Amino acid sequence: MPDQHGTAAPEDFFPAWNQGAHPELYEVENEALDREGVVWAELVRLAPWAGRTLLDLGCGTGFWLPRYAELARAVVGVEPDPELLAAARARPGGAEVLHGSAEHLPLPDASVDVVHARFAYFFPSPHADCTAGLEEVLRVLRPGGSLVVVDNDQHNGEFAALLRAANASAHQGEAEYINAWWAEKGASTTFVMSSWTFDKPQDLADVISMEFPNGTADEWLSQDPKRVRLSYGYALHHLRKGEQNLR
Ligand SMILES: C[S@@+](CC[C@H](N)C(=O)[O-])C[C@H]1O[C@@H](n2cnc3c(N)ncnc32)[C@H](O)[C@@H]1O
Repeated sequence: MPDQHGTAAPEDFFPAWNQGAHPELYEVENEALDREGVVWAELVRLAPWAGRTLLDLGCGTGFWLPRYAELARAVVGVEPDPELLAAARARPGGAEVLHGSAEHLPLPDASVDVVHARFAYFFPSPHADCTAGLEEVLRVLRPGGSLVVVDNDQHNGEFAALLRAANASAHQGEAEYINAWWAEKGASTTFVMSSWTFDKPQDLADVISMEFPNGTADEWLSQDPKRVRLSYGYALHHLRKGEQNLR
C-alpha cells in the first residue's frame, strides 16, 4: 500500500552501528531478548494487535515480523537501510516490507492500528528532534491507534549499568530528557525488567562486545566467563492517537 509520501530520504538515516554492521550477531541478540516473555506480554497489554494491522517501524532484518504476524491481521515493516530491507523481505512470514523511514512513511493516512518502533529512530535528545517522525506515525495511525516505542531503561538492570559505565547516553540520549520528551508529547512510560538469555557464553560475549565496541564491558565480561544471562530493563513509551500534545 505505498502512497505519495514516498521512500526514505538519504538524510533520514545512517546505518545502525549494531544491526547495520553486524546483522547476523544482531539476530543472536534478538533471540536472547526477553525469553521470559514479560516485555511481550506488556506490549500486548498496552496496545493489543490481534486481528489488527501492525507497522514495525525500522524493522531492520525483520526479526520480529513473523512473531507479530502470529496475532495480527496484517503486518507491515518499514526500513530505510537497503541491505536490511532486503533481508527483511527475504524473511518468511508474509509481512509486506516497504522502503521508508519514520520521517517518510510510504503508507496512507489512518491505515494502521499499532506502530512498534524497537530501538529505531526515536532517540530524542537536544540534538535530535523526533517530532517529524512522530507526526508521520500519527498520520498513518487510525484514531485511537497506538505507538509503542521499545527503549532502554537506563537505571535498572545489569545492561543499564553497562550503558552508564560506557557513557552511552552521550550518544543515545539522557533518560531524563527522553522520558520528559515522551511525557510532554502525551505518552506514558512503563518500565519492565527482563533479561537477555543466551544459549552459550560466547554468544553473550560477542553480542556485548558488539554493543560496547570500545572495550568498556571487557572487565565485566571477564568477571564471569561462563555467564549466559544478564538482567535487562526496558522502557516502553506508549502514545495513543488522540491523546498527543504536539503544540
Ligand atoms: C538497532 S536497529 C533495530 C532493528 C529492529 N527494530 C530490531 O529490533 O531488530 C535500528 C533500526 O532503525 C533503522 N533506522 C535508522 N534510521 C531510521 C529512520 N529515520 N526511520 C526508521 N528507521 C530507522 C535502522 O536502519 C535499523 O534497522
